[in-house]
Amino acid sequence: MEPRLVIVPDEMAMSVMAADIVSETLSKHPEAAISLPTGSTPVGMFDEIIARSQAGIVDLSHFQLFCLDEYLGASAGDPNTLTSWLMRTFVVPAGIPLEHVHTLPVADPDPGAAALRFEEEIAACGGLELAVLGIGGNGHIAYNEPGSRSDSRTRVLDLTPESVEQAAGYFDGASVPAKAMTVGVGTLLEARKIVLIVSGASKQDILHDALNGPMTADVPASWLRMAGDRVIVIADEAAAGRLA
Ligand code: PGA
Repeated sequence: MEPRLVIVPDEMAMSVMAADIVSETLSKHPEAAISLPTGSTPVGMFDEIIARSQAGIVDLSHFQLFCLDEYLGASAGDPNTLTSWLMRTFVVPAGIPLEHVHTLPVADPDPGAAALRFEEEIAACGGLELAVLGIGGNGHIAYNEPGSRSDSRTRVLDLTPESVEQAAGYFDGASVPAKAMTVGVGTLLEARKIVLIVSGASKQDILHDALNGPMTADVPASWLRMAGDRVIVIADEAAAGRLA
């Protein structure tokens, strides 16, 4: 079974379709564990979900939100962190109860053990019902950088120079941490549904490689194909430019 590929005209259509899948998951499983990404790609999806919540169309008060990644050693109050971004962009405006937000334990003195406890937290919430993901220019999903194995679990790893450069845009001159904690590829592959959202011509080569190239740790997103038809790829026409 192959992932389902849906090509939509533009970023807005991608965002609406992703929001539809989140809404549908929440209406079937109001208490589901769902992981949601950070970055520029999901902003429209978040705006759409917030609007639906404010209109009373979707109930966000019961689900468990699992963050995907965070910089190692980041403090809770740092506005540059991925968690702070998600709080500002989605959690606070959507009114999600803070006790339902599961952040990566990056300040723990034993991050390796804490990462494994994060896996247990996911399992205790019934496993991921839905994982929404973006793709990095280097093929990362969450912060599973090139070299990440398909059976990798939540762990700490070094960021590639490309990811540090991408992150620098959020750090406003401050230096970007060199390491992150990320939910593993194997962890993500266990989700009962996976949605990969991809927008813009800058992603067309990496999306092509992820879907049509070899399945390899060099392109961690290519491992998503192991989840077969549990995966839906929603790409706008610009991102799908090299797909047949
Ligand atoms: P972007 O990031 O949405 O800002 O392109 C995607 C990612 O790196 O996962």
